[in-house]
Amino acid sequence: MPLPKAELHLHIEGTLEPELAFALAERNGVELPYADEDALREVYSFSDLQSFLDLYYELMAVLRTEQDFADLADAYLARAAAQGVRHAEIFFDPQAHTSRGVGIGTVVEGLARALDRSEERHGVSTGLILCFLRDEPAESALETLEAARPYLHRIVGVGLDSAEVGNPPAKFRAVYEAAAALGLRRVAHAGEEGPPEYIAEALDVLGVERVDHGLRCMEDPALVERLVRERVPLTLCPLSNVRLRAVEDLAHHPLPAMLDAGLLCTVNSDDPAYFGGYAEDNLRAVRDTLGLSRERLRELARNSFLAAFLDHDEERRAR
Ligand code: ADE
Ligand code: ZN
Repeated sequence: MPLPKAELHLHIEGTLEPELAFALAERNGVELPYADEDALREVYSFSDLQSFLDLYYELMAVLRTEQDFADLADAYLARAAAQGVRHAEIFFDPQAHTSRGVGIGTVVEGLARALDRSEERHGVSTGLILCFLRDEPAESALETLEAARPYLHRIVGVGLDSAEVGNPPAKFRAVYEAAAALGLRRVAHAGEEGPPEYIAEALDVLGVERVDHGLRCMEDPALVERLVRERVPLTLCPLSNVRLRAVEDLAHHPLPAMLDAGLLCTVNSDDPAYFGGYAEDNLRAVRDTLGLSRERLRELARNSFLAAFLDHDEERRAR
């Protein structure tokens, strides 16, 4: 039996399995440049974050209607539940859809259709986190937050993802200030491929409460000390790090050293359809390869609930 856990770093578009991609392509009359599911799977070999993002954005072409987004989220929630996930905070990338002519309302209402039934159907409580694409201009992020205003009751927080290097957190100061003023929680990807300075900047300039990945903090002992002291949760994604070559292989993943340092680590799946595993698959992989003890695995599961925005409604009322 998998341990009950919360999943805090999961891109819903990254749960698009080849079978569903082809089914949606057919439903929507979209031509995919791959002969079949096997041919598609063959291109799941990445050299870095950008090589993955190219395919990730390309396949989104099949997502067009509210029902598509509902089917995508429902398929993820069923898989997550089978892996012991009891609470999921789900990232979505509105700009990757609005730039193709799919309105943010279609995306949010579609996802909400699945999320609203999730507790009853799958026993998984949920939250939605709207992510800004950091390789797009800051003005586009501000426009996206503005466009999301009618749907804010559906959204727990904001995040920052896509190509990290060269797109530091400070570029998004204004939109994070606006999000905070609207009562939204704040997270950001930092230190996946980017330097440790981006992690400090995400905390200092964007006011994030959790850091997504945060892997490269290990290059800066003073930063590690700060993250430990301030109990900043890190949402690690070990299989993603291997597939995107952020680490040499799983045996070299710094998770054990991070736990030994006292960091508040969680284990998540990032883009499970592309990286070879959902939440429990990631935990099993680190257990088997890194020899994590049962106590360490329990700590990771406990941390996932500690780091979750389960108190969001009370927090919001208190502001
Ligand atoms: N978008 C989807 N997955 C991502 C990742 N691992 N890093 C940055 N942006 C992403
Ligand atoms: Zn991610």
